[in-house]
Amino acid sequence: MDKLRIVGGTPLRGKVRISGAKNAVLPILAASLLADTEVSLQRVPQLKDVSTMMSLLSSMGGKVTLTDGGGLEIDTSSVMLPVAEYDLVKTMRASILVLGPLLAKVGEVKVSLPGGCAIGARPVNLHVDGLKALGAEVHIENGYIHATARKLRGAHILLDSITVTGTQNLMMAATLAEGKTVLENVAREPEVVDLANFLNAMGAKVSGAGSTTITIEGVRSLQGVRYRVIPDRIETGTYLVAAAMTGGHVELIDTDPLLLESVLLKLEEAGAKLQIEESRIVLDMEGRRPKAVSFTTAPHPAFPTDMQAQFMAMNAIADGIGVISETIFENRFMHVPELQRMGAEFQMEGHTVVVQGVEGLTGARVMATDLRASAGLVLAALAAKGETIIDRIYHIDRGYEAIEEKLMQLGAEIERLP
Ligand code: EPU
Repeated sequence: MDKLRIVGGTPLRGKVRISGAKNAVLPILAASLLADTEVSLQRVPQLKDVSTMMSLLSSMGGKVTLTDGGGLEIDTSSVMLPVAEYDLVKTMRASILVLGPLLAKVGEVKVSLPGGCAIGARPVNLHVDGLKALGAEVHIENGYIHATARKLRGAHILLDSITVTGTQNLMMAATLAEGKTVLENVAREPEVVDLANFLNAMGAKVSGAGSTTITIEGVRSLQGVRYRVIPDRIETGTYLVAAAMTGGHVELIDTDPLLLESVLLKLEEAGAKLQIEESRIVLDMEGRRPKAVSFTTAPHPAFPTDMQAQFMAMNAIADGIGVISETIFENRFMHVPELQRMGAEFQMEGHTVVVQGVEGLTGARVMATDLRASAGLVLAALAAKGETIIDRIYHIDRGYEAIEEKLMQLGAEIERLP
């Protein structure tokens, strides 16, 4: 298993181009199953999760081709086997996103039920209940969700709690349903809006994405389009924190500051000087130590759970005490004991961690447990004195394109050890 070796202590300086958003491209790839003709996508990040989704589409009979310049062409007109097997689903929970589109397009789908994961139990009951409300018959058999529907019918659905992929699955299913669907209490994440824009470009009638209610008027068919995926707000936030923690100065291009307002506000509170333009963010820490910040993770537009580990790492070396509460996932503090091995001082009380900032961390051998926890450890290592070896780094390849190259461009001392 690959490891990352990082020698910390260098203020990061330079320019980085932000990649397409992992959590936008995955539902869009799944939604391409709804199209009768070829879809062409631009700004597709080269990530393990993207290649897993490509394998999933191919395993069903779809044709997925990489094009020059980081694009993908997807032809799913020959999908014969609407099945997402256990072996693929167990490596990527987002495979559940094929449930809605396949049911709507083919009338039948079998998706392996994702088990628990490192950050929480993550049930999919809201996806299943919503599809039932649209008229599907759903059974759990041999570890698979088996759903069938001759024709889905529009319905009024109030989601019990906010779910990102659940909202996306129901939105996709409803595009080809008969009549009107109203989804209430939906996720407002930018990736939900990007999926709605993609569906509308294909001929769907989705309105209200980005608000708490989405309305979908069913149409007969959807056609392939050319579409450019939004930039990755979590990658953007991660490089900004990297510069803030090391007292550096970075310029991020090809991004969108409007996607991460809550994160930018917290960085300013931590003492970062920000210059914000339409697709560019410059952060200057002017060599200062960050000030501790407190926050509670919550659905968009509040502070994202996917940035919690990175800010935990920043608070670890910040001036003062920061209080972090996690409300989305019940077990998303696996980076805490690893950061403690590097000298961080935490007190955990249920879903809250009180961080007492220390003057500096020291390098150590640590273990990555999930994607964003790995990002938190990489940031801690960049700021720490001496060498850190991060084990099980495959987690980071699921969500950060070319992370070593990008960090090296900023002057970091980082290498991958086989
Ligand atoms: N939940 C239920 N029942 C459901 C669905 C969700 O109880 O049927 C619960 C979950 O257990 C969780 C909460 O609702 O406690 C929110 O989960 P949500 O469904 O919103 O998460 P997700 O759709 O599985 C997406 C992202 C995650 C991100 C979360 C929250 C994708 C592919 N994944 O997951 O991204 O953390 O939304 O914003 O979009 C990551 O990129 O590292 C990552 C984990």
